[in-house]
Amino acid sequence: MVELAPSILSADFSRLAEEVQAAQSGGGSVIHIDIMDGHFVPNIAVGPPVVKSLRRVTGAPLDCHLMVENPDQLFPELADAGADWVSVHYEACRHLHRSLEAIREQGMAPAVVVNPATRVDLLIDILPMVHHVLVMTVNPGFGGQQFIDFTLDKVRHLAALRQSLGLDYRIEVDGGIAHDTIASAVEAGADLLVAGSAIYGSGHPEQEARELLALARAAERAGKKTREPGAAAI
Ligand code: DX5
Ligand code: ZN
Repeated sequence: MVELAPSILSADFSRLAEEVQAAQSGGGSVIHIDIMDGHFVPNIAVGPPVVKSLRRVTGAPLDCHLMVENPDQLFPELADAGADWVSVHYEACRHLHRSLEAIREQGMAPAVVVNPATRVDLLIDILPMVHHVLVMTVNPGFGGQQFIDFTLDKVRHLAALRQSLGLDYRIEVDGGIAHDTIASAVEAGADLLVAGSAIYGSGHPEQEARELLALARAAERAGKKTREPGAAAI
């Protein structure tokens, strides 16, 4: 089942609880929190204290996307703050297997992220360890960028690998997910859909989330129909 993950990066930080609740009222069911250190990416954005505050206002999974040079040092604090899912970049982890284990040891669900230029084949050996793979559909660091089309090949590849390897990780996409791109991400096999500016940019997060989720669900239903036995191949 597809889920929509509102990214708070584009929300009004002076009213964060309200913004999260509005997106949840529209059907957002995972809260995506971008943590940036100004080194791995040029931007700086929030840390464990914000995770802790959000933990008090929502029961939805808190999905922490770490865009930092030294992710391992944040795991204990994130666990204390109440984070549920923690994703680390392939490009930032010298010892990725160790980092994923450390996340799990702290009681959180480990995930790995790949930038647009990174091949997903590099992840094959650690796929059995992850709760989800996050495919960046823009280069990380900023909201409101344009979706990069070729990244959907990675989503398709990950969906095929999941089936051939008999695994059950989820596939998340992040960056440029909006009304005109969400269906193609779902058709490619994504089931966790992060959206920042498409939800918060207009000032109507509840309505935008509702519309995005409806588009995603329609694409999911259409995909299931074409895969039913006897359905015409497309
Ligand atoms: C970008 C972040 C995203 C960001 C997406 O590096 O990882 O989560 O909020 O923003 P939009 O949906 O506006 O592209
Ligand atoms: Zn993100």
